[in-house]
Amino acid sequence: MSKTIIITGATGYVGGHTALRFREAGYTVIGVDRTITIPAAVEFLDEFLCIDFADIVDYCAQLREAGAIIHCAGTSLVGPSIADPGEYYNNNTSKTNRMLNWLSIKGWKGSIIFSSSAAIYGNFARCPIGESAVYSSLPVSPYGWSKLMIERVLADHCHAHGFRGISLRYFNAAGCDPQSRMGSERNGTHLFTRIIDNVLSGTEIVINGNDYDTRDGTCVRDYIHVTDLAEAHLEAVCLAESLKPGEHRSYNLGAGRGYTNMEVLRQVEDYAGTKLNWRYGPRRAGDPDQLYADPKKFIQDTTWHPKHSSIAEIASTTFNWFKKTYYNN
Ligand code: UFG
Repeated sequence: MSKTIIITGATGYVGGHTALRFREAGYTVIGVDRTITIPAAVEFLDEFLCIDFADIVDYCAQLREAGAIIHCAGTSLVGPSIADPGEYYNNNTSKTNRMLNWLSIKGWKGSIIFSSSAAIYGNFARCPIGESAVYSSLPVSPYGWSKLMIERVLADHCHAHGFRGISLRYFNAAGCDPQSRMGSERNGTHLFTRIIDNVLSGTEIVINGNDYDTRDGTCVRDYIHVTDLAEAHLEAVCLAESLKPGEHRSYNLGAGRGYTNMEVLRQVEDYAGTKLNWRYGPRRAGDPDQLYADPKKFIQDTTWHPKHSSIAEIASTTFNWFKKTYYNN
Protein backbone atom coordinates (compact mmCIF):
# COMPACT_ATOMS: atom_id res chain seq x y z
CA MET A 1 0.00 0.00 0.00
CA SER A 2 1.38 3.40 -1.04
CA LYS A 3 2.28 5.70 1.84
CA THR A 4 2.00 8.82 -0.32
CA ILE A 5 -1.31 10.66 -0.44
CA ILE A 6 -2.56 13.85 -2.03
CA ILE A 7 -4.99 16.08 -0.14
CA THR A 8 -6.93 18.74 -2.05
CA GLY A 9 -8.07 21.68 0.05
CA ALA A 10 -5.12 20.79 2.29
CA THR A 11 -4.94 24.11 4.14
CA GLY A 12 -8.65 24.17 4.91
CA TYR A 13 -10.26 23.10 8.14
CA VAL A 14 -10.93 19.40 7.43
CA GLY A 15 -8.03 19.09 4.95
CA GLY A 16 -5.53 20.49 7.46
CA HIS A 17 -6.62 18.26 10.33
CA THR A 18 -6.55 15.30 7.93
CA ALA A 19 -3.02 16.19 6.79
CA LEU A 20 -1.94 16.28 10.44
CA ARG A 21 -3.37 12.80 11.08
CA PHE A 22 -1.79 11.24 7.96
CA ARG A 23 1.57 12.81 8.86
CA GLU A 24 1.31 11.25 12.33
CA ALA A 25 0.57 7.89 10.68
CA GLY A 26 3.81 8.07 8.67
CA TYR A 27 2.45 9.12 5.26
CA THR A 28 4.12 11.50 2.84
CA VAL A 29 1.46 14.18 2.42
CA ILE A 30 1.23 16.27 -0.75
CA GLY A 31 -1.11 19.20 -0.17
CA VAL A 32 -2.95 21.05 -2.93
CA ASP A 33 -4.82 24.30 -2.37
CA ARG A 34 -5.43 27.46 -4.38
CA THR A 35 -4.87 29.67 -1.31
CA ILE A 36 -3.54 29.21 2.21
CA THR A 37 -6.69 29.21 4.32
CA ILE A 38 -5.26 28.22 7.72
CA PRO A 39 -1.46 28.78 7.74
CA ALA A 40 -0.81 26.20 10.49
CA ALA A 41 -1.82 23.44 8.05
CA VAL A 42 1.24 23.97 5.86
CA GLU A 43 3.39 22.50 8.67
CA PHE A 44 1.85 19.07 8.10
CA LEU A 45 2.57 18.93 4.37
CA ASP A 46 5.68 17.37 2.89
CA GLU A 47 5.00 19.43 -0.20
CA PHE A 48 2.53 22.23 -0.83
CA LEU A 49 1.28 22.96 -4.35
CA CYS A 50 -0.54 26.28 -4.53
CA ILE A 51 -2.75 25.33 -7.49
CA ASP A 52 -6.37 24.66 -8.28
CA PHE A 53 -7.24 21.00 -7.59
CA ALA A 54 -8.65 20.62 -11.11
CA ASP A 55 -5.06 21.06 -12.41
CA ILE A 56 -3.31 18.39 -10.32
CA VAL A 57 -2.62 16.19 -13.31
CA ASP A 58 -0.56 19.00 -14.88
CA TYR A 59 1.33 20.13 -11.80
CA CYS A 60 1.62 17.27 -9.34
CA ALA A 61 4.81 15.33 -10.11
CA GLN A 62 4.05 12.80 -7.32
CA LEU A 63 0.72 11.71 -8.78
CA ARG A 64 2.04 8.30 -9.89
CA GLU A 65 3.30 7.46 -6.38
CA ALA A 66 0.07 8.49 -4.68
CA GLY A 67 -2.24 5.62 -3.79
CA ALA A 68 -5.08 7.91 -2.81
CA ILE A 69 -6.44 11.40 -3.27
CA ILE A 70 -8.38 12.83 -0.35
CA HIS A 71 -10.62 15.34 -2.09
CA CYS A 72 -11.54 17.96 0.50
CA ALA A 73 -11.38 21.04 -1.74
CA GLY A 74 -14.61 22.83 -2.43
CA THR A 75 -16.88 25.68 -1.48
CA SER A 76 -18.92 24.72 1.53
CA LEU A 77 -21.50 27.10 2.94
CA VAL A 78 -25.22 26.44 2.73
CA GLY A 79 -26.48 30.07 2.79
CA PRO A 80 -24.09 31.60 0.20
CA SER A 81 -24.81 28.71 -2.18
CA ILE A 82 -28.40 29.94 -2.47
CA ALA A 83 -27.25 33.43 -3.48
CA ASP A 84 -24.47 32.20 -5.80
CA PRO A 85 -25.24 28.68 -7.04
CA GLY A 86 -22.94 29.03 -10.07
CA GLU A 87 -19.88 29.14 -7.81
CA TYR A 88 -20.93 25.86 -6.16
CA TYR A 89 -21.75 23.95 -9.33
CA ASN A 90 -18.55 25.21 -10.95
CA ASN A 91 -16.04 24.95 -8.12
CA ASN A 92 -17.43 21.75 -6.64
CA THR A 93 -19.10 19.70 -9.35
CA SER A 94 -17.56 20.80 -12.68
CA LYS A 95 -14.01 20.99 -11.42
CA THR A 96 -14.23 17.58 -9.74
CA ASN A 97 -15.46 16.13 -13.02
CA ARG A 98 -12.51 17.78 -14.77
CA MET A 99 -10.02 16.40 -12.25
CA LEU A 100 -11.44 12.87 -12.54
CA ASN A 101 -11.47 13.09 -16.32
CA TRP A 102 -7.78 14.00 -16.43
CA LEU A 103 -6.88 11.32 -13.89
CA SER A 104 -8.51 8.74 -16.16
CA ILE A 105 -6.79 10.10 -19.28
CA LYS A 106 -3.43 9.76 -17.52
CA GLY A 107 -4.25 6.21 -16.48
CA TRP A 108 -4.10 6.88 -12.74
CA LYS A 109 -5.63 4.01 -10.75
CA GLY A 110 -5.87 4.90 -7.07
CA SER A 111 -8.55 5.57 -4.49
CA ILE A 112 -10.52 8.77 -4.14
CA ILE A 113 -11.91 9.70 -0.74
CA PHE A 114 -14.41 12.50 -1.26
CA SER A 115 -15.65 15.04 1.32
CA SER A 116 -19.37 14.82 0.85
CA SER A 117 -21.88 16.32 3.24
CA ALA A 118 -25.03 15.80 5.24
CA ALA A 119 -26.35 18.72 3.19
CA ILE A 120 -27.27 16.13 0.55
CA TYR A 121 -30.18 15.18 2.86
CA GLY A 122 -33.08 17.59 2.89
CA ASN A 123 -35.87 18.12 5.36
CA PHE A 124 -35.94 14.62 6.67
CA ALA A 125 -38.59 13.84 9.24
CA ARG A 126 -37.10 10.63 10.56
CA CYS A 127 -33.71 10.91 12.22
CA PRO A 128 -31.26 9.25 12.64
CA ILE A 129 -30.59 9.40 8.93
CA GLY A 130 -29.27 6.32 7.17
CA GLU A 131 -27.42 6.53 3.86
CA SER A 132 -30.43 5.36 1.83
CA ALA A 133 -32.44 8.44 2.91
CA VAL A 134 -30.89 10.19 -0.05
CA TYR A 135 -33.40 8.43 -2.27
CA SER A 136 -36.39 9.90 -0.42
CA SER A 137 -35.17 13.30 0.80
CA LEU A 138 -33.56 15.62 -1.73
CA PRO A 139 -31.15 18.48 -0.89
CA VAL A 140 -32.59 21.89 -0.06
CA SER A 141 -29.55 23.98 -1.09
CA PRO A 142 -27.36 24.27 -4.21
CA TYR A 143 -24.44 23.33 -1.95
CA GLY A 144 -26.15 20.03 -1.07
CA TRP A 145 -26.99 19.39 -4.71
CA SER A 146 -23.42 20.12 -5.80
CA LYS A 147 -22.13 17.47 -3.34
CA LEU A 148 -24.75 14.90 -4.33
CA MET A 149 -23.90 15.44 -7.99
CA ILE A 150 -20.22 14.86 -7.23
CA GLU A 151 -21.06 11.53 -5.58
CA ARG A 152 -22.80 10.50 -8.81
CA VAL A 153 -19.96 11.81 -10.99
CA LEU A 154 -17.41 10.00 -8.82
CA ALA A 155 -19.33 6.71 -8.85
CA ASP A 156 -19.56 6.84 -12.65
CA HIS A 157 -15.85 7.62 -13.08
CA CYS A 158 -14.97 4.80 -10.65
CA HIS A 159 -17.09 2.40 -12.65
CA ALA A 160 -15.67 3.49 -16.00
CA HIS A 161 -12.01 3.85 -15.06
CA GLY A 162 -11.39 1.43 -12.20
CA PHE A 163 -10.88 3.96 -9.40
CA ARG A 164 -11.99 2.95 -5.92
CA GLY A 165 -14.20 5.62 -4.38
CA ILE A 166 -15.54 6.46 -0.94
CA SER A 167 -17.79 9.45 -0.29
CA LEU A 168 -17.84 10.53 3.35
CA ARG A 169 -20.99 12.44 4.23
CA TYR A 170 -19.85 14.71 7.04
CA PHE A 171 -22.43 15.97 9.46
CA ASN A 172 -21.41 19.15 11.33
CA ALA A 173 -17.63 19.20 11.61
CA ALA A 174 -16.59 21.10 14.73
CA GLY A 175 -13.76 21.42 17.27
CA CYS A 176 -10.00 21.83 16.81
CA ASP A 177 -6.93 19.65 17.28
CA PRO A 178 -6.78 18.72 21.02
CA GLN A 179 -3.12 19.86 21.10
CA SER A 180 -3.98 23.16 19.32
CA ARG A 181 -1.62 22.43 16.41
CA MET A 182 -4.44 23.08 13.93
CA GLY A 183 -7.86 24.68 14.13
CA SER A 184 -10.56 26.67 12.44
CA GLU A 185 -10.72 30.11 10.86
CA ARG A 186 -11.70 33.01 13.05
CA ASN A 187 -14.17 34.53 10.62
CA GLY A 188 -16.06 31.26 10.17
CA THR A 189 -19.83 31.37 10.06
CA HIS A 190 -20.42 28.07 11.87
CA LEU A 191 -22.26 27.87 15.15
CA PHE A 192 -19.35 26.75 17.34
CA THR A 193 -16.93 29.24 15.84
CA ARG A 194 -19.42 32.04 16.46
CA ILE A 195 -20.21 30.91 20.00
CA ILE A 196 -16.59 30.53 21.09
CA ASP A 197 -15.62 33.87 19.59
CA ASN A 198 -18.56 35.27 21.50
CA VAL A 199 -17.25 33.75 24.78
CA LEU A 200 -13.86 35.38 24.19
CA SER A 201 -14.94 38.76 22.85
CA GLY A 202 -18.49 39.33 24.09
CA THR A 203 -19.89 40.04 20.60
CA GLU A 204 -23.53 39.17 20.13
CA ILE A 205 -24.57 35.83 18.68
CA VAL A 206 -27.77 35.54 16.67
CA ILE A 207 -29.61 32.21 16.78
CA ASN A 208 -31.20 31.76 13.37
CA GLY A 209 -34.86 31.00 13.94
CA ASN A 210 -36.82 29.49 16.84
CA ASP A 211 -39.88 28.20 14.99
CA TYR A 212 -38.48 24.98 13.53
CA ASP A 213 -40.23 21.69 14.11
CA THR A 214 -37.86 20.58 16.91
CA ARG A 215 -38.02 20.23 20.72
CA ASP A 216 -37.16 23.90 21.42
CA GLY A 217 -37.79 25.42 17.99
CA THR A 218 -34.09 25.76 17.04
CA CYS A 219 -32.36 23.54 14.47
CA VAL A 220 -30.92 20.16 15.47
CA ARG A 221 -27.45 19.16 14.20
CA ASP A 222 -25.02 16.30 14.73
CA TYR A 223 -21.61 17.67 15.74
CA ILE A 224 -18.63 15.52 14.86
CA HIS A 225 -15.17 16.49 16.11
CA VAL A 226 -12.78 17.24 13.25
CA THR A 227 -10.16 14.93 14.84
CA ASP A 228 -12.68 12.07 14.55
CA LEU A 229 -13.26 13.07 10.92
CA ALA A 230 -9.52 13.07 10.24
CA GLU A 231 -9.25 9.58 11.72
CA ALA A 232 -12.12 8.44 9.50
CA HIS A 233 -10.11 9.46 6.40
CA LEU A 234 -7.25 7.24 7.51
CA GLU A 235 -9.69 4.37 7.94
CA ALA A 236 -11.32 5.15 4.60
CA VAL A 237 -8.01 4.90 2.73
CA CYS A 238 -7.49 1.38 4.17
CA LEU A 239 -11.10 0.43 3.46
CA ALA A 240 -10.81 1.66 -0.14
CA GLU A 241 -7.86 -0.70 -0.69
CA SER A 242 -10.22 -3.60 0.01
CA LEU A 243 -12.83 -2.48 -2.57
CA LYS A 244 -12.96 -3.91 -6.06
CA PRO A 245 -11.65 -1.60 -8.79
CA GLY A 246 -14.62 0.42 -9.98
CA GLU A 247 -16.50 0.26 -6.68
CA HIS A 248 -17.84 3.37 -4.96
CA ARG A 249 -19.47 3.57 -1.52
CA SER A 250 -21.04 6.36 0.52
CA TYR A 251 -20.93 6.59 4.30
CA ASN A 252 -22.38 8.91 6.93
CA LEU A 253 -19.90 10.40 9.37
CA GLY A 254 -21.63 11.78 12.41
CA ALA A 255 -21.65 11.13 16.14
CA GLY A 256 -25.20 9.76 15.92
CA ARG A 257 -27.02 12.23 18.17
CA GLY A 258 -28.51 15.66 17.64
CA TYR A 259 -28.34 18.86 19.69
CA THR A 260 -30.48 21.94 19.17
CA ASN A 261 -28.72 25.26 18.66
CA MET A 262 -29.95 26.36 22.11
CA GLU A 263 -28.68 23.16 23.75
CA VAL A 264 -25.25 23.85 22.26
CA LEU A 265 -25.35 27.43 23.50
CA ARG A 266 -26.38 26.37 27.02
CA GLN A 267 -23.71 23.66 27.20
CA VAL A 268 -21.02 26.14 26.17
CA GLU A 269 -22.29 28.55 28.83
CA ASP A 270 -21.90 25.74 31.39
CA TYR A 271 -18.40 24.94 30.10
CA ALA A 272 -17.30 28.60 30.14
CA GLY A 273 -19.10 29.42 33.40
CA THR A 274 -20.55 32.57 31.87
CA LYS A 275 -23.77 33.85 30.29
CA LEU A 276 -23.53 34.56 26.57
CA ASN A 277 -24.80 37.63 24.76
CA TRP A 278 -27.35 36.25 22.31
CA ARG A 279 -30.74 36.85 20.69
CA TYR A 280 -33.06 35.10 18.25
CA GLY A 281 -32.99 36.24 14.62
CA PRO A 282 -34.96 35.11 11.56
CA ARG A 283 -34.54 31.70 9.94
CA ARG A 284 -31.54 31.26 7.64
CA ALA A 285 -32.48 30.10 4.14
CA GLY A 286 -31.52 26.51 3.33
CA ASP A 287 -31.46 25.25 6.95
CA PRO A 288 -33.29 21.90 7.39
CA ASP A 289 -35.05 21.43 10.76
CA GLN A 290 -32.97 18.53 11.95
CA LEU A 291 -30.07 16.44 10.70
CA TYR A 292 -28.41 13.72 12.68
CA ALA A 293 -26.74 10.60 11.47
CA ASP A 294 -27.01 6.92 11.77
CA PRO A 295 -23.25 6.28 11.38
CA LYS A 296 -23.34 2.51 11.97
CA LYS A 297 -22.45 1.53 8.40
CA PHE A 298 -18.98 3.11 8.63
CA ILE A 299 -18.55 1.84 12.21
CA GLN A 300 -19.33 -1.71 11.03
CA ASP A 301 -17.03 -1.61 8.00
CA THR A 302 -14.01 -0.11 9.80
CA THR A 303 -12.54 0.14 13.31
CA TRP A 304 -13.59 3.81 13.53
CA HIS A 305 -15.57 5.20 16.43
CA PRO A 306 -16.07 8.88 17.32
CA LYS A 307 -13.96 9.53 20.44
CA HIS A 308 -13.76 13.33 20.68
CA SER A 309 -17.25 14.44 19.74
CA SER A 310 -18.78 15.47 23.07
CA ILE A 311 -20.00 19.08 23.13
CA ALA A 312 -17.55 19.71 26.02
CA GLU A 313 -14.51 18.52 24.02
CA ILE A 314 -15.61 20.39 20.91
CA ALA A 315 -16.04 23.56 22.98
CA SER A 316 -12.76 23.23 24.92
CA THR A 317 -10.60 22.45 21.89
CA THR A 318 -12.12 25.35 19.92
CA PHE A 319 -11.69 27.67 22.90
CA ASN A 320 -8.01 26.71 23.33
CA TRP A 321 -7.21 27.18 19.63
CA PHE A 322 -8.96 30.56 19.48
CA LYS A 323 -7.23 31.78 22.62
CA LYS A 324 -3.80 30.70 21.38
CA THR A 325 -4.19 31.77 17.77
CA TYR A 326 -6.43 34.84 17.76
CA TYR A 327 -6.19 36.24 21.30
CA ASN A 328 -2.45 35.60 21.95
CA ASN A 329 -2.79 33.81 25.28
N1 UFG B 1 -26.41 29.14 13.45
C1 UFG B 1 -26.94 30.18 14.19
N2 UFG B 1 -26.17 31.30 14.35
C2 UFG B 1 -24.91 31.41 13.82
C3 UFG B 1 -24.39 30.33 13.08
C4 UFG B 1 -25.18 29.22 12.91
O1 UFG B 1 -28.05 30.11 14.68
O2 UFG B 1 -24.28 32.47 14.01
C5 UFG B 1 -27.25 27.96 13.26
C6 UFG B 1 -27.58 27.66 11.82
O3 UFG B 1 -28.64 28.44 11.34
C7 UFG B 1 -27.90 26.18 11.91
C8 UFG B 1 -26.91 25.67 12.97
O4 UFG B 1 -26.52 26.82 13.71
O5 UFG B 1 -29.19 26.01 12.40
C9 UFG B 1 -25.66 25.07 12.38
O6 UFG B 1 -25.15 25.96 11.40
P1 UFG B 1 -23.67 25.91 10.85
O7 UFG B 1 -23.49 27.11 9.98
O8 UFG B 1 -22.73 25.73 11.98
O9 UFG B 1 -23.64 24.56 10.02
P2 UFG B 1 -24.65 24.05 8.88
O10 UFG B 1 -25.60 23.07 9.53
O11 UFG B 1 -25.25 25.16 8.11
O12 UFG B 1 -23.71 23.35 7.83
C10 UFG B 1 -22.65 22.49 8.20
C11 UFG B 1 -21.64 22.51 7.09
C12 UFG B 1 -22.18 21.87 5.88
C13 UFG B 1 -22.78 20.54 6.20
C14 UFG B 1 -23.80 20.64 7.31
C15 UFG B 1 -24.31 19.26 7.64
O13 UFG B 1 -21.26 23.85 6.78
O14 UFG B 1 -21.09 21.70 4.99
O15 UFG B 1 -23.16 21.21 8.41
O16 UFG B 1 -25.26 19.29 8.67
F1 UFG B 1 -23.40 20.07 5.12
